Amino acid sequence: LSVLTPDHSLQGRHILVTAGPTVEPLDPVRFLSNHSSGRQGYAIAASLAQRGADVTLVSGPVTIPVPPGVRRIAVQTAREMLTACEAALPADAAICAAAVSDWRAKQPAAGKIKKTADGPPSLELVENPDILATLCRSTRRPSLVVGFAAETDDVLDNALAKRARKGCDWLVANDVRQGVFGATRNTVSLIDESGVQGWPEMDKMHVADRLAERIATFFAGSSS
Ligand code: CTP
Ligand code: CA
Repeated sequence: LSVLTPDHSLQGRHILVTAGPTVEPLDPVRFLSNHSSGRQGYAIAASLAQRGADVTLVSGPVTIPVPPGVRRIAVQTAREMLTACEAALPADAAICAAAVSDWRAKQPAAGKIKKTADGPPSLELVENPDILATLCRSTRRPSLVVGFAAETDDVLDNALAKRARKGCDWLVANDVRQGVFGATRNTVSLIDESGVQGWPEMDKMHVADRLAERIATFFAGSSS
């Protein structure tokens, strides 16, 4: 029945969400990317929009439809994602759920790289800009910045360190050993200034809903 009750708790708030993978070209036919399905980020965008937020979803290539009421900006590379995010500011909150490719080819080949008798080519990679950290340091920093951490080892220690390093307010940590990529369920912990809260395993839709509710509570308690 709750879907029939209009919720305006985020009315008037502009929220930026990043989602999906980024895709970094190696040559015109090959790329470097990752397994992100975009499901968790799209579910968050949908939950925020259901609460009346004005949502800008900056997304790498995924196969899921744009949720109702969400403005999607489609990008391919990390650098395009950063440019689109900066262009979307100001925002009240930013939720960085994208699986940004950490590296790109230093010099993507203009033509298809061919096999040669010399053996495989070596790829020179350079690091991509960190979108979450850049938003956190921005002079137009949103009041609430939420990051995600995909970890396979020492999940909570890595996530606590990552929150401090990036400078985000909240960090949603998930253990990606459990086959989270492309799955519909997720087990996460939410880290904020007061510590770690473990959430039970639930649907990505429910993770999104619970996060959107917490964001609405955050803004209900803030004066602006
Ligand atoms: N992130 C980002 N831009 C990047 C890399 C990551 O915005 N270039 C964001 C992700 O969207 C996520 C958070 O930073 O919200 C953490 O991403 P993650 O890959 O877990 O952390 P990294 O800092 O890239 O560290 P590593 O992959 O080495 O664990
Ligand atoms: Ca990374």
